[in-house]
Amino acid sequence: PGGTMRLLCALLVLLPAAAVASRTRRELAPGLYEHGVVAAGGPYCERGDVCCRGRDDGCTVPYLDTVCYCDLFCNRSVSDCCPDFWEYCLGIPPPFPRAHGCARAGRHYPSGATFRDNCNLCTCSQGGRWDCEDHPCLMDPELINAVNSGNFGWRAANYSQFWGMTLDEGIRYRLGTVRPPPTVLNMNELHMPVDSNEVLPRHFDAAAKWPGMIHEPLDQGNCAGSWAFSTAAVASDRISIHSMGHMTPALSPQNLLSCDTRNQRGCGGGRLDGAWWYLRRRGVVTDECYPFTSRGGRAPGQPCMMHSRSTGRGKRQATARCPNPRARANHIYQATPAYRLAADEKEIMKELMENGPVQAILEVHEDFFAYRSGIYRHTRVAEGKAPAHRRHGTHSVKITGWGEEQLPDGQTQKYWTAANSWGKDWGEKGYFRIARGVNECDVETFVVGVWGRVGAEDMHHG
Ligand SMILES: *[C@@H]1O[C@H](CO)[C@@H](O)[C@H](O)[C@H]1NC(C)=O
Ligand SMILES: *[C@@H]1O[C@H](CO)[C@@H](O)[C@H](O)[C@H]1NC(C)=O
Repeated sequence: PGGTMRLLCALLVLLPAAAVASRTRRELAPGLYEHGVVAAGGPYCERGDVCCRGRDDGCTVPYLDTVCYCDLFCNRSVSDCCPDFWEYCLGIPPPFPRAHGCARAGRHYPSGATFRDNCNLCTCSQGGRWDCEDHPCLMDPELINAVNSGNFGWRAANYSQFWGMTLDEGIRYRLGTVRPPPTVLNMNELHMPVDSNEVLPRHFDAAAKWPGMIHEPLDQGNCAGSWAFSTAAVASDRISIHSMGHMTPALSPQNLLSCDTRNQRGCGGGRLDGAWWYLRRRGVVTDECYPFTSRGGRAPGQPCMMHSRSTGRGKRQATARCPNPRARANHIYQATPAYRLAADEKEIMKELMENGPVQAILEVHEDFFAYRSGIYRHTRVAEGKAPAHRRHGTHSVKITGWGEEQLPDGQTQKYWTAANSWGKDWGEKGYFRIARGVNECDVETFVVGVWGRVGAEDMHHG
């Protein structure tokens, strides 16, 4: 009916001769109020500053998805006057019962109206009350304030990319690493012999030691595929370092998400050992060749668009063009078997310093999403709340360095620096620092290193 009305109005302007036909039409028009098209209150005639005498078919203002009238003629049948016509134009109360509605920010809404309050949907009930869902939100202003006033050594912030998501959605869509099962947790642990009187530097930053070879933090969007992101990130740096900068590929997480499908669930989570197996046996192309397209995450998995064949001695060659038609180079990059480091601070430091960034799992708790800066430690600010507010899930990240900071009380706080995959707007330019030497959030539980498979011929890649 709204479309018809509007069309009618347009016709009236163009064809005044049709006015007679439209007069009948308007008289017969179903009354807005009789048919439940009711916005309870609202400044309609007032906002348009119109009140017309007699009959004026052009005396309308937009009303929901149709128009309403502010001319005296509408009062004849109380059919299509704007809700504020009587009060604004005639100065009398409207001749129909006021619909129940709900008020919000000085406006009136009909029952059934909705609005979002952060991650919760609120609906105006028949009884004229807003009924809101009660999900714990990923960005909880109360939690952010508690962290920032609590002197925990780190600060929290409200992230617009997380605003409106529930905590449950954050755990489900922003992480995505399957906790390694015991068999993997016990896998070939490699020991970095550390001499007990060996002194390791107090600060270390991989990007300073290997300039141009440490890749920037990635952004997994709402794809729960950190298993692919942290693996691609560590392998990219390691291949760059081990080829001494002759190759500096930014490897493709999408290649892993779409093609490493054996026991893996793409943006529904995956295992690190499976990812490293794939990097060794199949290899992946660069992110430029096979760009990330699963940012939305919830879409069904996309078919694998890269294939390769063996060229002997374990090496492989792509047999498909890059999914990105503008990219030419479809070189396949591979790694040697990944190895697990002992859950030992010094050994992890030594490996990092000698061979480059390492991969680590991280147990992510509700307060971590809001991390903005400082040295993270999981706080107990959600302790007093219902269990639904205290959630955690397994994630994986790339550790790139360490350091220490003097606290106001004179104590020294040691930390790791790690790259997350929530974009460069999150944390400290995409990085975060976390307490070191105390296995904070399991960050020292499962740490993995790898060698790039770099042959003599790769040194001429350029
Ligand atoms: C408008 O309609 C009401 C109710 O039918 C009536 O009482 C009132 O006199 C009308 N006002 C005018 C100005 O026509
Ligand atoms: C957080 O950020 C969102 C989106 O930018 C904004 O709408 C909201 O009002 C902010 N909340 C608080 C408590 O600052």
